[in-house]
Amino acid sequence: MDPTMDTNAAIWTSEEYVRTRAAQAGQRERENAERWRILGELLPFEEQDVFTFLDLGAGTGSAARRILDLYPRSRAILSDFSPQMIAVGKEEMAAHAGRYRYVEFDMSTGGWPAAIPEVLDAVVSSMSVHHLPDHRKEGLFAEVFARLAPGGWYLNYDTVSATDPIVAATWERTADRRDPGAAATRRHRTPDERARHENHLRHVIPLSQQLEYLAAAGFIGIDVYWKDLDDVIYGGQRPASEPATTAR
Ligand SMILES: C[S@@+](CC[C@H](N)C(=O)[O-])C[C@H]1O[C@@H](n2cnc3c(N)ncnc32)[C@H](O)[C@@H]1O
Repeated sequence: MDPTMDTNAAIWTSEEYVRTRAAQAGQRERENAERWRILGELLPFEEQDVFTFLDLGAGTGSAARRILDLYPRSRAILSDFSPQMIAVGKEEMAAHAGRYRYVEFDMSTGGWPAAIPEVLDAVVSSMSVHHLPDHRKEGLFAEVFARLAPGGWYLNYDTVSATDPIVAATWERTADRRDPGAAATRRHRTPDERARHENHLRHVIPLSQQLEYLAAAGFIGIDVYWKDLDDVIYGGQRPASEPATTAR
């Protein structure tokens, strides 16, 4: 396999990969449940508030479900570019029928489909933005800002890379201590598996660069609201009011 080839779409639209991934859903839910809960808690709503949020790269809807459960009167728009992930998602979202809809949207283009409302109360993403090349991460954050209602929040749970090799080694050592099986898996990858893994993570970038994209888009209140090794939740708010223009 050509390791420079971007097989991102090929992976996410592979029936076999998506079904294998769905079979591991229980373990992924256990590992991430707390993080998705924090993502939801960071939103500035009261439990009974009525609002609509967008989950970008929602996959099978795990993060969205957590937020729908925290706010029983909220509604979700789940966007993803993979019909295969959406099909599995519709099965997993069955208990939330009537409170969500899926929209097909490829974030690698700036062409937002009309099915996504022009104004959104909140936007979240979970482990999807790292699949985009940098110019699209930056573009996406600006597009999210433009669609958020004044005062609306964007929160992203994602993985980041380290620029300092000591930091990278510390993350890896600590992760291996928590999950010795992961270290063994990494050591025994076939060349094909290694190429696929590296390609899968090829757009992962440092945290500081992503925070700069948020600031450049106009967000305020930017912070890393949660962090564990290379996993982070960061985000910011669209100002509640636009700065007054100076009269001439
Ligand atoms: C690791 S999964 C995360 C899914 C879900 N958000 C979660 O946390 O369980 C990444 C998701 O991003 C989607 N994705 C990757 N690239 C995308 C793109 N260019 N446009 C839209 N979705 C994309 C994939 O189809 C997949 O559903």
